[in-house]
Amino acid sequence: MSKLKEKLYKKIEEWRPRTTKLLKEYGDVKISDVTISQAIGGARSIKCLVTDISYLDPLEGIRFRGYTIPEVLEKLPKVPGCEMPYVEGHVYLLLTGDIPTKKEVEEVAEEFNKRQHVPQYVFDILRAMPRDTHPMTMFSTAILAMQRESLFVQQYNAGISKMDYWDSTYEDALNLLAKLPEIAAYIFRMKYRSDTIIPPDNKLDMGGNFAHMMGIDKPYDDVSRLYFILHSDHESGNVSAHTGHLIASALSDMYYSISGMINGLAGPLHGLANQEVLRWIQGVMDKMGGKIPTEEEMQKFVWDTLDSGQVVPGFGHAVLRKTDPRYMAQREFCLKHLPEDLIFKYVDILFKVVPPILEKQGKAKNPWPNVDAQSGVIQWYYGVKEYDFYTVLFGVGRAFGVAANIIWDRALGYPIERPKSVTTAMLEQMAVAKK
Ligand SMILES: CC(C)(COP(=O)(O)OP(=O)(O)OC[C@H]1O[C@@H](n2cnc3c(N)ncnc32)[C@H](O)[C@@H]1OP(=O)(O)O)[C@@H](O)C(=O)NCCC(=O)NCCS
Repeated sequence: MSKLKEKLYKKIEEWRPRTTKLLKEYGDVKISDVTISQAIGGARSIKCLVTDISYLDPLEGIRFRGYTIPEVLEKLPKVPGCEMPYVEGHVYLLLTGDIPTKKEVEEVAEEFNKRQHVPQYVFDILRAMPRDTHPMTMFSTAILAMQRESLFVQQYNAGISKMDYWDSTYEDALNLLAKLPEIAAYIFRMKYRSDTIIPPDNKLDMGGNFAHMMGIDKPYDDVSRLYFILHSDHESGNVSAHTGHLIASALSDMYYSISGMINGLAGPLHGLANQEVLRWIQGVMDKMGGKIPTEEEMQKFVWDTLDSGQVVPGFGHAVLRKTDPRYMAQREFCLKHLPEDLIFKYVDILFKVVPPILEKQGKAKNPWPNVDAQSGVIQWYYGVKEYDFYTVLFGVGRAFGVAANIIWDRALGYPIERPKSVTTAMLEQMAVAKK
């Protein structure tokens, strides 16, 4: 058993009695009420999911296993000679709740490297798809195609105990996660770089190897590490995380679950928003003839978007009520590495002008920028200008958090998810009865 798996097993054994006790002794304690607007309005804020991997405070933003983003970036061991930590160390943190030592991270990196080989049939399937297929469709298809590799399915069919479900789920997770960077880079180079594929270099860490396979020089390796870490998890209620959890709750395996969560991430109100941001900015740049708009000019573009009934991409959030710390982490990177970049300047003007406008309009509950407002700029600067691809990058990162959640779901024996629905007539009756 690898050191990481051993440690995870110990943590699971320690954790199980807590969940059992809560269920047995306090199962009736009420933690949330549900209103009609929540039932119609996307289950907003109803407390009905449990995760210990991350927690999203509306004002503070995300904490991974109790650590804020600046703490994660500071405390996780760094790749030698680089600014950013190992993605592998972040996976260790998400799974175990502990900050790994350098040696522990190197062991995980080694373990991922061993599992990296992508079966040829995955590439064959990608190549058989029309080249103009959206990269998210390709990514999801590639993951789904590997479902036949699932160890969980084999072991489930062999009749293993429920208590052991987490073990083969963990194996499936590591096997799949190790392959995602190569699949993503393959889609990128096949679609957008004249099919010039760069094979992996398994001497490199995950972020370094991804940059290598993308064919982009330093500091794109650090960009990749930062990007994958920041996008890994945002507690359980967002569409991608919840979709992954929901699918897995039917005991569908990791491949089904991660492919499904990628499809949720592909929506314009979720992960696709980062490509929308770039598309929106490009539209303004075209109108400005490449010049930097004044604040007044930018205000007009923002109002034009709102007046035509569209949302301003990259702003607002279902839970957050302040600037997303994932936005700030990327902003700091931009200030250090690309302060003079034209698109960054656009993004910075938007940071100034959009929140007061959204406040004035009075609809959005959160006028502040989210992660997507900043991430495309960095990719563009380092040559990834095909913004259709940005959500695939988000998907690679998000898979780490969703997989960690699913392993723990299995470890703690969370059951199949089944909220109750009501009819409109029932709501009307309940509403009248309360008046
Ligand atoms: C993220 C988002 C989907 C959250 O949705 P939500 O929880 O329903 O947000 P709110 O409760 O604040 O929405 C209330 C109203 O404000 C509007 N609103 C929210 N954010 C807005 C924005 N950025 N621009 C314009 N209007 C916005 C909503 O469309 C909604 O309008 P409606 O009442 O006419 O339907 C929403 O803020 C949005 O569409 N943002 C732009 C897309 C984006 O950046 N997505 C990435 C999220 S990480």
